[in-house]
Amino acid sequence: MKRIGILTAGGDTPALNATIFGAVNRAIQQGVEVVGLMSGFDSLFDPRLPHVILNPLLQAIPELDATYGGSLLGSSRKYIDQRNVHAIDQIIERLRRLQIEGLICVGGDGTLNGLQPFCDRIPTVLAPKTIDNDLGLNYPNEPDKYLLESGGDEQGGERYRILTAYEPGGEFQLNNMVNYVTPGYATAVYVAVEGVRRIRTTAESHRRVAIIEVMGRHSGFLALGNAYGQPDLILVPEFPVDVPLLVSRVKDIYRLQHNVVIVCGEGIVDAERHVMADEQQTTDPAGNLRLSGAAEALRRILIKELGDQFFKGLGNSDSAESAIFTRKVGHTQRGGRPILFDRFYAAQLGGQAVDMLLAGQTNAISILQWSEENGFYLQSYPGNGFRDRWGRIHARTLHPSFYDPRRLHISTTGIDYLLPIFTKSIGTEDVEYIRESRFDTGNLFRRYHSINTDMQKRVRYL
Ligand code: F6P
Repeated sequence: MKRIGILTAGGDTPALNATIFGAVNRAIQQGVEVVGLMSGFDSLFDPRLPHVILNPLLQAIPELDATYGGSLLGSSRKYIDQRNVHAIDQIIERLRRLQIEGLICVGGDGTLNGLQPFCDRIPTVLAPKTIDNDLGLNYPNEPDKYLLESGGDEQGGERYRILTAYEPGGEFQLNNMVNYVTPGYATAVYVAVEGVRRIRTTAESHRRVAIIEVMGRHSGFLALGNAYGQPDLILVPEFPVDVPLLVSRVKDIYRLQHNVVIVCGEGIVDAERHVMADEQQTTDPAGNLRLSGAAEALRRILIKELGDQFFKGLGNSDSAESAIFTRKVGHTQRGGRPILFDRFYAAQLGGQAVDMLLAGQTNAISILQWSEENGFYLQSYPGNGFRDRWGRIHARTLHPSFYDPRRLHISTTGIDYLLPIFTKSIGTEDVEYIRESRFDTGNLFRRYHSINTDMQKRVRYL
């Protein structure tokens, strides 16, 4: 192969540029030209196929900076419909005209689904990214445990149920996880943990109950990682909220310390397994439910269950309305500079994706494994291994052993899971960067210069 394409799809993460950086550097070593396709799969639908040569004359362009968040190529949530054979034909023809012989898609489970329609027509591999950490398997063959329920949902769509994966007491071992962790997750947790710690002191000073909502869709990895921020309670989407237990835990903790900090995943569900986020639900272009309002739903429950009397009885003159507040960490946890762990492994995974293409692989994933003996190491994994019997790829959810539903907190296995990722995940240069950049006097005088402006000048068309 002399020329390969690369695109970034789905929601951005802080480590995308690091992945591209790793891929471009490996390609340079191998004498391969890398063409960046703009705005994810969107570029493929454009007959002009907007693109940028990322290593002209086998030199990386200066805009490619592994420490800069987001994607210099841009991203979108548009995917190709497998049934649209005509569109797929057109895309393959465009890639052929651009002399692209292989494709790297940097993305998560949605992107892995999204590359299925054409990976039999052009060698395509996935380099992983997601802040949700939901790309992977808790153990090999986990997709075989999915059952497609007859009847589908109310809209006539498909409804899946996972059979035994939630049965505690199985043979779960961290060593067996497939794609232990994905670049983007560590930085997102790093940001959210800072939010939790900062909100704590306000909750303490004002004797309040704080409910902090973090992203993660239907997977609780992000919420769980916030255990580093020492919240009193963590609620994850995999375990329906047990209201009486929650209320009694909140009361006990408040009586003791006159403040409570709760972290909840945006996708938490009630006893009937309905998402607690806003009732008026909308979906993004990829068909994912937009989740917002979980913390607010919890707040309403706690206001009703605790009432003003509870706070007054403990010497707090605030009403329940004002004593219980919510904050969303929101997109700050998805943007900005990646921390060392993410930068390092994203670059490694990007580099490996190039090697996989050159070795003739297609529909394969560049993954990060972990074992007690070897620590982190790279592997490639067949895309088919992520598919259930109906061909669907599911977002990984927390293995039940990671969570303690009685304490509403992380379990010891969950702690064992986090330790290899986060111990030493921040580099000294990350700390130095904050010191040097936050109050850089130049920031007051210079306008923000967007990378998009520079990249736009490099865009070429078919
Ligand atoms: O999948 C990443 C993610 O950040 C989710 O955690 C979140 O639900 C979603 O994307 C938000 O997407 P958008 O930026 O399109 O609102």
